[in-house]
Amino acid sequence: MTRLNIVVGITGGIAAYKAVGVVRALVLAGHDVHVVPTEGALRFVGRPTLEAISRNPVHTELYEGVAEVRHVAIGQAADLIVIAPATANSIAKLAAGLADDLLGNTLLASEAPVVIAPAMHTEMWRHPATRANVETLRSRGVTIVGPAVGQLTGADSGPGRMEEPDVIVRAALERVLGEASKHEASAHRGDLAGRHVVVSAGGTREPLDPVRFLGNRSSGKQGIAIAEAARERGAHVTLIAANLEVAEPEGCDIRRVSTTLELQAAVAEAAQGADVVVMAAAVADYRPASVSEAKIKKEQSDDGLTLELVRNPDILASLGNAPHPGTLLVGFAAETEADDERLFELGRAKREAKGADLLVVNRVGWNEGFASDENRVVVIGDGGAVVARADGTKLSVAHDILDVVVAQATTAAPAATTPKESETE
Ligand code: C5P
Repeated sequence: MTRLNIVVGITGGIAAYKAVGVVRALVLAGHDVHVVPTEGALRFVGRPTLEAISRNPVHTELYEGVAEVRHVAIGQAADLIVIAPATANSIAKLAAGLADDLLGNTLLASEAPVVIAPAMHTEMWRHPATRANVETLRSRGVTIVGPAVGQLTGADSGPGRMEEPDVIVRAALERVLGEASKHEASAHRGDLAGRHVVVSAGGTREPLDPVRFLGNRSSGKQGIAIAEAARERGAHVTLIAANLEVAEPEGCDIRRVSTTLELQAAVAEAAQGADVVVMAAAVADYRPASVSEAKIKKEQSDDGLTLELVRNPDILASLGNAPHPGTLLVGFAAETEADDERLFELGRAKREAKGADLLVVNRVGWNEGFASDENRVVVIGDGGAVVARADGTKLSVAHDILDVVVAQATTAAPAATTPKESETE
């Protein structure tokens, strides 16, 4: 095992207490961890805790240890720098290259990969200044993990929660060690260049009245991972986003929708001339027959409430069962079936019924599939054959699915693999 020298920068946000979990996990994984907290971070978590957990002395002061040139030595020696939590202020400082404390100096003096886990209130995360700073960091190769969506420090909730320590640690180590170099970006780079890939992600919501809806537990993570992976491989990506619970990916053309009918209209428009359409969204099969203009009151129906639902159009089936030359259609099936063979059988039947070229089957349950960062799928192709099995992070599963898409497009649809004329000019 490679023992890495890892700097964990902790900045001044309430999520600093969770950074202790990041440090601990990295130490337990056998790495040499040096914590560099800002003064603000030390208001949330004490130096003795950080020293005990990291098993190394903890410094913050620029003017301590001057003889050992500590302000550059820590950064120079690092194999990896993780900043968790990264506040809006620290992201701004990092983007600007400010070095007014030990962490700022460490970052400037280092050539190591940097992984940051932002944590802040939703308004701050969405602020154009933060968006621009994050984009700057991303363009410099900084890996951004999260933020997750959920309960924030106050009563509010939304994107801004720091990702869980295990997610941060996995992403950080993957950044340096590679996921066994399984998905080296260079291995795929450009194999979807010039292609238009449409991805639907998230879950539709069908309103009952102005405050309620029928929805599902899809977070949108797998669809977003497919959009990100396709973009990494050079595609122009249209992401049709239905009520995402995670931050939208950068670099995609995003169309936000909520209901199935809105999703249908957006897909119909985007799919025209697309090379690949991936229907990863969880789409409601039914919607309320009518939407109440006013909030439904319990006093209206003392004996319970019966909802009348009508069928929604099947978007994938209507694309698949119409001619779609040059467009590869990928559907998803999320099933609770426990038996593998029966699960595959459901996938085969769904592929046939919907006229999809590929059908990705995954098992879902109360604790499986939805909000998690990992997935296990099989891909059903021509003749109902299992053409791929994938297991790992949602991003690595996304690449495995796109490997099949690229291979399929090469053999089945020359139009989708030869660069379009306009792109060869
Ligand atoms: O029938 P089921 O919902 O299991 O099918 C799942 C696949 O079909 C997914 O790819 C989903 O995006 C798509 N779908 C659709 N329109 C619907 C229901 C599902 O496109 N009304």
